Amino acid sequence: MKFFIDTANLSDIKEAYALGVLDGVTTNPSLMAKEGITGESNIINHYLKICELVDGDVSAEVISTNFEGMVSEGEKLAGLHPQIVVKIPMIKDGIKAIKYFSDKGIRTNCTLVFSAGQALLAAKAGATYVSPFIGRLDDISTDGLKLIEEIRLIYDNYGYETQILAASVRHVMHIMNCAQIGADVITAPLSAIEGLLKHPLTDSGLATFLADYNKGNK
Ligand code: G3P
Repeated sequence: MKFFIDTANLSDIKEAYALGVLDGVTTNPSLMAKEGITGESNIINHYLKICELVDGDVSAEVISTNFEGMVSEGEKLAGLHPQIVVKIPMIKDGIKAIKYFSDKGIRTNCTLVFSAGQALLAAKAGATYVSPFIGRLDDISTDGLKLIEEIRLIYDNYGYETQILAASVRHVMHIMNCAQIGADVITAPLSAIEGLLKHPLTDSGLATFLADYNKGNK
């Protein structure tokens, strides 16, 4: 399973990359705004900084909501750096744009996916990644993980190569459940990725080992 970090925060990206297990980065306009990155040229510079920090795919989201706008923005984003994957919203013109980019060999991430039907359409259009938002489904008392299961089944039934990129991942159990279901990628904040490290028995066991070592060295 690939691990992406879901942030525009450069120090979190550096820290996750230093662990040696990071495969890519996803961003969105809200994550950019959270870091105070606004305006087209600042956003573009920020994507370039992220690409310099990591090896791996970096999702860069279009703002346009019509086909022509998405194509023009997406071509510009894809031309910035070979690591860029164009992130396109799951709307009618978005599907047309994904098909257009797929035919041109430009990689895409179909975002804001909340149903298996949407994921099926994205795969048929040739999306590289599909991003179901599991945490936001959980927020409205719907089972986000069930959606990952449904998409996995559909993609396996037909051999679609679109990768399931579980997004809106909030905590360690989301990551573990996605791994068990067979999501291809999770994108999560640094806190959830680092949360995988933690176990109280590891901490107490290590403390005992170090204390015992020190006894022998007195
Ligand atoms: O990148 C999109 C997605 O991961 C957003 O997550 O926590 O805002 O629902 P969240």
